[in-house]
Amino acid sequence: MTATTSRKRIAVVPGDGIGKEVIPQALEVLKATGAPLDFTILDWGADRYLADGTTVPPDGFVTLSGDFDAIFVGALGDPRVATNIHAKEILLGMRFKMDLFANVRPVKLLDESLCPLKNAQPADIDFVVIRENTEGVYMDMGGYFKRDTPDEVATQEDINTRKGVERIIRFAFDYARTHGRKKVLMSDKSNVMTYAGGLWQRVFKLVAAEYPEIQTQHMYVDALCLQMVRDPRSLDVIVTNNMFGDIITDLAAALQGGLGMAASGNIHPGRTSMFEPVHGSAPPIAGKNIANPMGSILTGAMMLAHLGFTAEAAKIDNAVFKAVQEKKTTVDVGGSLGTKECADWIKNQVLSSRA
Ligand code: NAD
Ligand code: IPM
Ligand code: MN
Repeated sequence: MTATTSRKRIAVVPGDGIGKEVIPQALEVLKATGAPLDFTILDWGADRYLADGTTVPPDGFVTLSGDFDAIFVGALGDPRVATNIHAKEILLGMRFKMDLFANVRPVKLLDESLCPLKNAQPADIDFVVIRENTEGVYMDMGGYFKRDTPDEVATQEDINTRKGVERIIRFAFDYARTHGRKKVLMSDKSNVMTYAGGLWQRVFKLVAAEYPEIQTQHMYVDALCLQMVRDPRSLDVIVTNNMFGDIITDLAAALQGGLGMAASGNIHPGRTSMFEPVHGSAPPIAGKNIANPMGSILTGAMMLAHLGFTAEAAKIDNAVFKAVQEKKTTVDVGGSLGTKECADWIKNQVLSSRA
């Protein structure tokens, strides 16, 4: 995308728990960049669900796609909603019903002090996970037989379509090509899940042939977990299914300083896409001004870059980098600032970089 001066309309869903603290702070940082964004705050989340039973209002997804250029989400999940139905309908609803098939989760270490691995340097941890976002076990297909009896059987289907697998693998190769990455690693569990894995393996080979300049590699997902800890430097672009992508990106978040640092985008090229930090609503720390806002702030930068505001995005990335260097951070990453104070520092840094 190229930079544009036309204003962009952003739907904002702060959601639940710490989402309601970190998102307003991230919005302040986004505003400080001067990018021409108009924000519309939507109250989708547990409070609304508990008040009037609404998860997604009628035509909610049609409105998101039609009236907005991007969506900025905090987190969804609240202990008062034991079924988690609102989170499922809102968050997974956006991913599935808006067909946001590529979940892009960059993994970048900003400073040695943030990494739990011994002697790991920033240059050692710089890769991206491309997670399939609309299929797999997340499709909610399955059922019970003889429920609540000693003979109960539960099934949970793992759906892999040829079109779905092909488009996410192609997205990963295109991402590598356009971001100057050299290698795409496909990860599955094809030694056990032979049918789904077989499809992924065949499609990976076919698509790879169209990108001769990109190296390819395959790793079983268990071995990949070992590799992520033992030799993360060898990783570049990883493409994998929905469930494995979910699991490995929490491990990947730990490599860059924890869930408070991790950003993501849920993308369908050419359509309204959704950006959210990787972390959840973290109920135990909600409302205490201690949650790390950097994951959301970096997510905001990803959204800006996606909308074509690459210079503004870079200002945020640089300000966060500086905050980490100067320990102007929350306690989870070794600083002593509160959520608001950390975000304010970053905002002021962005403002001074505009001057
Ligand atoms: P979580 O990400 O909320 O918390 C996991 C751990 O990371 C906790 O120790 C928490 O304190 C810490 N943490 C997370 N974000 C942090 C931040 N910004 N700063 C500092 N520490 C942070 O995951 P969970 O506890 O498994 O889930 C809590 C709720 O969130 C559940 O309802 C879950 O379903 C939901 N959830 C939502 C999303 C989402 O909306 N995208 C993602 C994950 C979990
Ligand atoms: C994530 C979360 C979600 C997922 C949950 C909250 C449904 O863990 O975005 O990583 O499993 O995708
Ligand atoms: Mn997750």
